Amino acid sequence: MSSNRLFGLSAAKDKLLKDLSSRRQGRDGGASGGRLADADVMVPMPRFEELPGYRQMKQQKVMADTLGIPNPFFRVHQGASGATALIGNREYINFSSYNYLDLAGHPHVAERTKAAVDQYGTSASASRVVSGEKTIHRELETAIAGIYEAEDCVVMVSGHATNVSVIGHMFGPKDLVLHDALIHNSAVQGAQLSGSRRIAFPHNDWEALEKILKAERRAHEKAVILLEGHYSMDGDLPDLARFVEVKNRWGAWLMVDEAHSLGVLGETGHGIFEAQGIAPGDIDIWMGTLSKTLSGCGGYICGSAALIEYLKFSAPGFVYSVGMSPPVAGAALGSLEMMKAEPWRVSQLNKQSARFRDGAAARGFDVGPSVGAAIVPIITGSSIKAARLAAELYERGINVQPILYPAVPEKSARLRFFLSCAHTDAQIDQTLEALTESWAAVQAAGNTVKELAARLGMVLGDDN
Ligand SMILES: Cc1ncc(COP(=O)(O)O)c(C=O)c1O
Repeated sequence: MSSNRLFGLSAAKDKLLKDLSSRRQGRDGGASGGRLADADVMVPMPRFEELPGYRQMKQQKVMADTLGIPNPFFRVHQGASGATALIGNREYINFSSYNYLDLAGHPHVAERTKAAVDQYGTSASASRVVSGEKTIHRELETAIAGIYEAEDCVVMVSGHATNVSVIGHMFGPKDLVLHDALIHNSAVQGAQLSGSRRIAFPHNDWEALEKILKAERRAHEKAVILLEGHYSMDGDLPDLARFVEVKNRWGAWLMVDEAHSLGVLGETGHGIFEAQGIAPGDIDIWMGTLSKTLSGCGGYICGSAALIEYLKFSAPGFVYSVGMSPPVAGAALGSLEMMKAEPWRVSQLNKQSARFRDGAAARGFDVGPSVGAAIVPIITGSSIKAARLAAELYERGINVQPILYPAVPEKSARLRFFLSCAHTDAQIDQTLEALTESWAAVQAAGNTVKELAARLGMVLGDDN
């Protein structure tokens, strides 16, 4: 995919770029403000408006406005979001939240959160290393370690930052970081920060991974393989046993990100190892987040006592960051307790996800490789179609987020449905019906892109 593509319209970018920059040529409103005489300025200060990423963003907005597609981002939800969401005082059937087990507004979780505030206040008020340590931190870490039968666990204040900090810290220029091509941005950022040799292998392809290890492993000191237990965009799984075999053969560590797997996979929601019958100790580094099933925010790492001790004394994102906010730890503990007490939530989530996935596939939608466990994409093959489809569904009372280029390649543009155990059969069936109607409307509006291109004098890409 060329970086020149905008909503799949190949020549659009140049034209819009010119339009936008000519509209913003004047420097009067800029941060530099023209306070110095020209002769005093050694290097002109760049303006934020000129940042290429900002310009691309504005171009996308111009394009969406021209096509009459409403902005689906930063919609304001007025309460807890689960199977439904209150937006603009209207209740929508909602498929855009990670609230897989419907615990983010659960009374027990709220109770645990409030009790934590009462006991500890709202902030840890310091890094844990230097006086921010609270009883509830170790309580939560012990509970999470228990899931993986691991020696220990450490929690950090952000899931994204956990990957960045841990991967960025543990590996260096002499090391090898191999990651699935579809791994989450946080792992890629961590790998980039590490300065290691970083190679992406084709999605879920353990044989391709083995070939890379064969060619590269001996030239490096440490090696790590990064996977997700349940891929966040496609809702599919790696064959974990195969990856364990490969990593054992080539002396590499295996790190598995369970962000969308905990609470979703396995009979009791313990994740991919439970679903695939793998001994959790076969994985060297378990990573996960508190922002999905655990109704809070933050990340965790589980593994050997030495690994956790090392991270607790040296990972910058832990040592130089405040300890997890006690109420967030309380929410996560409360959620773990609910997951254990009510395993029906996990089976219900899977049942409803399969109902949606199978229903959509039966209606001819492309659901990709989703296994039907909480994440189901509806691949539209074009960002414009994805944005339009989301807008049509929104009109019909259904809130689902489109995933557009550049978040995914243009041909993989999609709607991503997050299911919850609280979705009813009726809500799912109503959504399937609305999907069919909305898709027909999107197809009927099909020539708008061509009209737009003609108006702007653009040449369309093949996929339009
Ligand atoms: C696979 C994966 N890892 C890590 C993260 C980052 O976690 P958080 O959003 O809790 O910061 C996400 C976010 O959704 C994710 O999908």
